[in-house]
Amino acid sequence: MGTTKIGVIGAGSISESHLKAYRGNPDAEIAAICDLNRERAARQAEKYGAARTYTDYRELLADREIDAVSICTWNNTHAEIAIAALDAGKHVLVEKPLCQTVGQALQVEEAVRRSGKLLQVGFVRRYADNTRVLKQFLDSGELGEIYYAKASCLRRLGNPGGWFADKARSGGGPLIDLGVHVIDLCWYLMGRPKVKSVSGNTYRRLGNRSNVKNLSFYKAADYDASRNDVEDLANALIRFENGASLMVDVSFTLHAKQDELTIKLYGDKGGAEIEPELAIVTEKHDTILNVQPQVDNLSFDFGAAFQNEIDGFIDCVRSGKPTISPVKDGVELMKILCAVYESSEQGREISFH
Ligand SMILES: NC(=O)c1ccc[n+]([C@@H]2O[C@H](COP(=O)([O-])OP(=O)(O)OC[C@H]3O[C@@H](n4cnc5c(N)ncnc54)[C@H](O)[C@@H]3O)[C@@H](O)[C@H]2O)c1
Repeated sequence: MGTTKIGVIGAGSISESHLKAYRGNPDAEIAAICDLNRERAARQAEKYGAARTYTDYRELLADREIDAVSICTWNNTHAEIAIAALDAGKHVLVEKPLCQTVGQALQVEEAVRRSGKLLQVGFVRRYADNTRVLKQFLDSGELGEIYYAKASCLRRLGNPGGWFADKARSGGGPLIDLGVHVIDLCWYLMGRPKVKSVSGNTYRRLGNRSNVKNLSFYKAADYDASRNDVEDLANALIRFENGASLMVDVSFTLHAKQDELTIKLYGDKGGAEIEPELAIVTEKHDTILNVQPQVDNLSFDFGAAFQNEIDGFIDCVRSGKPTISPVKDGVELMKILCAVYESSEQGREISFH
């Protein structure tokens, strides 16, 4: 079997992590890069040795040599490009969020079904080493049943601007951009329980605060602070049918003293923190133990997690194994995220049945 030929669609900030990881995988070969911005595509093609560049993703999909694509474009294009790629016979790794609406998510799921191709959702945190270590403890039942999880991903200053702040292209603010990661991670580690109801609040109180000086933050490739119609804070309480609950809050900006990333899970035999650092809490011989695994990356390591994610994708493409972040999980996350927005708009809890 020869190398798996890859096309990367969208050559902005996050494409760098995909391209680096494909380059680091001996079974993958970067064949083509596409971006609306021709120079950006050409720059990445030159850097990563891709033979062809395109500005229209349909041309890249017509390239018969390409086996699989990474979709690293704005959220409003994920569904359209993923469906076209699947229908063109390509395997797909699509960045999070899967898309913008539940309707789109179901259409993508249908395209996966009819094409028989693989679609992996870019839930990169599932692939992090600290997550993988903890998952083994959870799967073996050492923490018992997880009945409560709590996640915060609070930026005091970090609206990435450009399309991220344009609801038509992003679908929303920190909830759909950051919340998707932390909600997914908790839900995945809780054993993907069925959602019973969602209650949420979103706020647009501080704007993008582009006036603030001397503090740097992540920016879209085409940074532009002139437009901003997304929330700056979201919180939610998610109830599950098994009685478990998840509380989450996320922000692009907030008058917080410092940025915060905490992800905690509590079970009836033990608890765990993944962020800010992997730790396991348990009780033995009437004594509480805080256990610290001895691993290289106790916290999320961006480069290592992306390498794991891409290696996993290539392995699934080549072997036919199922991915650990399949389309059905992307659909479920879209249901949760959209329910938080709906709950906030309607000022009431949204029931899933
Ligand atoms: N997994 C993560 O941790 C992570 C981190 C950042 C971004 N992302 C996701 O990656 C995606 C891209 O984000 P980014 O930060 O790289 O944004 P970006 O603005 O830096 O880059 C997006 C690129 O896509 C191009 N593009 C948009 N529509 C296109 C189309 N139809 N055809 C070809 N090119 C098109 C733009 O020209 C731009 O160069 C988003 O979905 C975002 O949510 C994921």
